[in-house]
Amino acid sequence: MNGFPTTDYELLDRQLRALLAGERDALANAANFVALTFSAIGSINWLGIYVARGDELVLGPFQGKPACVRIPFGAGVCGTAALTRETQRVADVQAFDGHIVCDPDSRSEIVVPLIIGDRLLGVLDIDSPFEARFDAADQRGVERLCDSYLESIAAPDAGDFI
Ligand code: SME
Repeated sequence: MNGFPTTDYELLDRQLRALLAGERDALANAANFVALTFSAIGSINWLGIYVARGDELVLGPFQGKPACVRIPFGAGVCGTAALTRETQRVADVQAFDGHIVCDPDSRSEIVVPLIIGDRLLGVLDIDSPFEARFDAADQRGVERLCDSYLESIAAPDAGDFI
């Protein structure tokens, strides 16, 4: 408990699986994944997918204010998640070295790498206007949602994801 509205990730995951069932298109499912999740998680101001293209991330489906389009691997919170392939949960983005400001309202952030096999497809980024919005339960829940999204899409071949 951190005082923020609690998300029922088990219920949300069931809703997500039902929403994506029967469709394998990575872009369509990404768009619905982002729309459902943005509407279901409280106290956030931005949620979206950055797609891995070569050695940079490119903006994909999102909800929130317009955002920066290209982020090199290793830059900011998103680029760090892409480079390390590990979830980044940042309680205070202003204290994160190299944080990239897209929406100045953002105070905390969680970024989950989207990986199938050994291939990094992109990252899911969620921003909150509140410090320390995301706890370990949010991390587990969001990672679970990402797994469900990845399971829903056809395994991408050597071509670009989305
Ligand atoms: N703050 C992110 C950039 C993306 S936006 O928040 C939408 C970062 O530091 O990677």
